[in-house]
Amino acid sequence: MVLNASILSSEFKASDLIKRFNDTKVSYIHLDIMDGKFVNNKSFTVSEIKKFNDISKKSFDVHLMVKNPIKYINDLALLNVNTISFHYEAVKNLDEVINLIKNYGIKVGIAINPKTDINVLIPYLNMIDIVLVMSVEPGYSGQAFIESTYNKVEKLKELIINNNSKSLIEVDGGVNIENAPILKEKGTDIIVSASYIQNNLESINELIEL
Ligand code: DX5
Ligand code: ZN
Repeated sequence: MVLNASILSSEFKASDLIKRFNDTKVSYIHLDIMDGKFVNNKSFTVSEIKKFNDISKKSFDVHLMVKNPIKYINDLALLNVNTISFHYEAVKNLDEVINLIKNYGIKVGIAINPKTDINVLIPYLNMIDIVLVMSVEPGYSGQAFIESTYNKVEKLKELIINNNSKSLIEVDGGVNIENAPILKEKGTDIIVSASYIQNNLESINELIEL
């Protein structure tokens, strides 16, 4: 399975983590950007991200947990960014944000919180590349995986197929070697991990080989 490494941590320096992940088989660096408004926490300024860009051999899978994604997209587009996901709950005019990201030739994802119904995604499923399913409340790494995510992913896979969409399913929060095989079986294409792989570097290949 595709594994993206989140560098959110209260224990390690983000730049050290990037260097550590450089020579592993993780696909992308999952960059969690928080504004202290959409979620009750803040992370990474644009100038910090520019420094990460200089030292990272991997491109970025950006997860915008912010009220106003448009404010960040122009700066991010100058960097080695593969995907930008923004939250459904944060934005009124989703088409505008989707088009802005797409016009830069960057893949686009919509992230949904654990309590958000998957059916809200129907109008957008043919416009986006990724649905980022949160399996914890956004804001912090190291939280416990919410078990109802399995069912959500299974239903979302059906919805994607029934709508002739090519969107991939990415699951973010509390992912580990116990729940990852089940997530895969339910239809997950990409997993994100911060705390589990930061503390079990040797498990990276095991997760990728699932
Ligand atoms: C949570 C972030 C996640 C988080 C994952 O708000 O979006 O990407 O860093 O951390 P773990 O894997 O520790 O739950
Ligand atoms: Zn994330």
